[in-house]
Amino acid sequence: MIRTDLNAAPMYVAPSKQGIDLKLDANEWPVEDEFNRYPEPQPRALIEELSQVYEVDTKQLLLSRGSDEAIDLIIRSVLQPGNGALVQCSPAFEMYRHYATLHGAKTINCPLKRSDDFAIDIPAIVMATRQNDASIVFLCSPNNPSGTTISEDQIGRLLDALAPEVLVVLDEAYVEFSVLPSLAKQATQTPNLIVLRTLSKAYGLAGLRLGVAIGAETTINTIAAALPPYPIPSPVVDAAMQALSTPNLIELRVQQVRRAREQLKRALPQLSYVLKVWPSDANFLLLEVSDADRLVKQARASGVSLRRVTEYANLNNAVRISVGTQQQNDRLLKLLIDLQSTLPGQRAMAGNH
Ligand SMILES: Cc1ncc(COP(=O)(O)O)c(C=O)c1O
Repeated sequence: MIRTDLNAAPMYVAPSKQGIDLKLDANEWPVEDEFNRYPEPQPRALIEELSQVYEVDTKQLLLSRGSDEAIDLIIRSVLQPGNGALVQCSPAFEMYRHYATLHGAKTINCPLKRSDDFAIDIPAIVMATRQNDASIVFLCSPNNPSGTTISEDQIGRLLDALAPEVLVVLDEAYVEFSVLPSLAKQATQTPNLIVLRTLSKAYGLAGLRLGVAIGAETTINTIAAALPPYPIPSPVVDAAMQALSTPNLIELRVQQVRRAREQLKRALPQLSYVLKVWPSDANFLLLEVSDADRLVKQARASGVSLRRVTEYANLNNAVRISVGTQQQNDRLLKLLIDLQSTLPGQRAMAGNH
């Protein structure tokens, strides 16, 4: 799957420290203190810890600066600059297109099926991949911004239908909030499947910028070649190790988010200007409203930021709202109720509910 021109190019490999007790190869400050040395390219302790969290081998995962960087690494190591193509399924996370554009690659859009709870359209993806000679298909489950999921069966059927040299990237940034299991283990057995995980969402560590790509060892080595030499700063590793040692961290947070999400999901359809609330397995909800611009502007005027979702052929006037704490949700709901007097009501469009 790697770009043919990269196969021939010599890649930078950071020098190993093994067996060395006088290190004079990296132009570092020579007096030992906390930060005088470059960090390990892939910090071993954190890799070991995360390999247990995701139940994969240490050689089957790669750490990046957020999964954002993993998306970029995959695009740069697989797509030929200037004429590569990837397929995404709108409404989709914006970074797939962003990094493809920066790389001079094309983004082909295969919309999710609105009438089927935003399921993927397998025949359309297969055809778009063939027709455009696309080498990567980006999927996201639970999907940002819709919150909807893709079943293991659907991913399996897509993999069966695609040529084996097409890489499927399954972005599982929000999977901890879902009832569906992660496909991380399956990715380690499937050379053309990479699963992306992150510590930014359920772990609550967005500020650390830690993402994880999981796949078969050969696939992981392919994308590792595009990493900068020392991407993960030492204090980030220490902070992550500390957070990961907190007992029940994820279980409690996931429970809290699910409870708050269900509360919002019950309350939001009562608002006069809300047309539809999509089912969500993530820590946000996607709504369609009578006037998304106005809603976002009015909320902002009260100090509350909501995300206006770009217009897609299969989604109009949509707003994405992150689930907050109980207190934050109470403030949000009070504001949204007050805004009923300033936004057009949609009772007349009942057919849309
Ligand atoms: C679907 C999806 N993937 C990846 C990311 C990037 O996450 P990070 O770079 O913080 O790991 C996000 C962030 O919002 C996201 O929604």
